[in-house]
Amino acid sequence: MLLVKLGGSVITEKTRLRTARSAPIRRLARELKSVGQPLLVVHGAGSYGHILASRHRLNEGDSSPGKRSAAARVQADVRNLDGLVVDALNRAGLAAVSIPPASVLVLDDGKVSTADLTAFLEFSSMGFTPVTFGDVVRDLRRGVSICSGDLMMLELARAFRPNRAVFAADVDGLFTADPKLRRSALLLESVGPKDLGQIEFSDRSRTDVTGSIEGKVRRMFEIADHVGECLIVNGNVKNRVRDALRGRRVVGTRVVRGP
Ligand code: IPE
Repeated sequence: MLLVKLGGSVITEKTRLRTARSAPIRRLARELKSVGQPLLVVHGAGSYGHILASRHRLNEGDSSPGKRSAAARVQADVRNLDGLVVDALNRAGLAAVSIPPASVLVLDDGKVSTADLTAFLEFSSMGFTPVTFGDVVRDLRRGVSICSGDLMMLELARAFRPNRAVFAADVDGLFTADPKLRRSALLLESVGPKDLGQIEFSDRSRTDVTGSIEGKVRRMFEIADHVGECLIVNGNVKNRVRDALRGRRVVGTRVVRGP
């Protein structure tokens, strides 16, 4: 079993509300098909989720009518993006079925309270490709909150123990600083918890309701605990996701488990 996350910055224009990047979605769907092994696919929300979720502070509890409509709007938006991804995967021949987090999981103050992953297991055992994504879900304490695609990666990694988990990002991997802001930033070939100190994290959390880059990297350490290999690669480079999933050596960052 292989696990892959298509990052929101690869499949959408992250700063333009509800703007999908159709060509990369189609190309990545073909790449996933050509891997030829059972897959679990997760995708991010990008501009279908982060912009409105952060504008309406959907991660912060309270259930005013305004917030309720915004939550419903964002939930509908991420389903529209998911429709595009599932459609592309089906056209590529992967028999993709969508399993929305809001239907199978409940959070408690942002942490998983209950998750029933039976649908993933059963669809997968029949040869389907389960697809899930970052979503607006029920939260026992906050009413609703955001379940990121990364949190779904962790839940699926725990349950399925895949041979490999690959994160498709819009850069080559994890750098010593934000490569979009600092040209001297160096790509890290491998990163573990003890390397966090040498990374300069920029404040990109303004539109990112699911947390800072540092938080995302810490979640990847947890994921690395449950998979044979965990990699971050550039999803904008043709065939890199395919090759990484096949276990070829590619440019990227290997995430290693904690001590
Ligand atoms: C975000 O999911 C979900 C919502 C904002 C509804 P992710 O955090 O996994 O999405 P990306 O990959 O960063 O866009």
